[in-house]
Amino acid sequence: MFKIQTLNNISILGLERLPRERYEVASEMNHPDAVMVRSADMHKTEISASIKAIGRAGAGTNNIPVAAMSKRGVPVFNAPGANANAVKELVLAGMLLAARNIGSALDFVKKLDGDDKAMHEAVEAGKKKFVGFELPGRSLGVIGLGAIGVKVANTAIELGMEVWGFDPAMTVQNAWKLDARVRQALSVDDLMARSQFLSVHVPLLDATRNLVNTDRLKLLKKQGVVLNFAREAIVDEKAVLAALDSGSLHAYVCDFPSNTLKGHPRVIATPHLGASTNEAEDNCAVMVADQLREFLERGNITNS
Ligand code: MLT
Repeated sequence: MFKIQTLNNISILGLERLPRERYEVASEMNHPDAVMVRSADMHKTEISASIKAIGRAGAGTNNIPVAAMSKRGVPVFNAPGANANAVKELVLAGMLLAARNIGSALDFVKKLDGDDKAMHEAVEAGKKKFVGFELPGRSLGVIGLGAIGVKVANTAIELGMEVWGFDPAMTVQNAWKLDARVRQALSVDDLMARSQFLSVHVPLLDATRNLVNTDRLKLLKKQGVVLNFAREAIVDEKAVLAALDSGSLHAYVCDFPSNTLKGHPRVIATPHLGASTNEAEDNCAVMVADQLREFLERGNITNS
């Protein structure tokens, strides 16, 4: 009997991959063989000596002490690509929200007061400040051409945008999936100088912390929009605030709450919802459960 501890709500479809006759699955247990986790921070948790493998039901593994686990010979499985469509859809929504000033427009409508006539008059007087712009012909730079970045880039091409990509570590599989119309930039700086929209899709590493900083923000084209659906620390929020306030940046769209940017009229923030669709939660949990089974039962490492 294998014992698997679930540290977050893991989709039922994923748990059903672990047959009850061979697996005990619970949120609290002693001496588990493996852990399935979504966003819980495992840096702050005592990881039992009984653990033989960790399954992260998502793409990023920065909530897991991967280096320490490797030293212990504990593989960390993740679910690359399993939530890519969900993230791509939210990035797309973010681009449209920013281009059409929807965040401030929603606030404006919520605050309208008075009778119908008064509200209509306020709308006529106020709507001019929400005039937006359309996406075809606009440029988008995508940093990180993994499963998510490739989908974002390809969708933007379909929308008629000019798309630039940069990822020196792109895999052959992803290179095959990338629309041939996506142009390759020479560097992050080169990509930013060619882009009005910028979307980051890289993991959080020492090398990607503050990747988007004051100097680089200056390179973006006019009415720049930065989208961060990856990890908060990849973008320097103080630099973003200064760029928004100076008018050089039109909007910042991110998937995290931020004290630095809280309440800013041109910041659109969601509470880490990129992977929060039923489909993505099922896909991630199924992928990770299958990997854990393969490892626990046969010792095979099948992470793609
Ligand atoms: C990811 O890394 O794929 C996301 O953080 C997943 C999640 O929201 O759980």
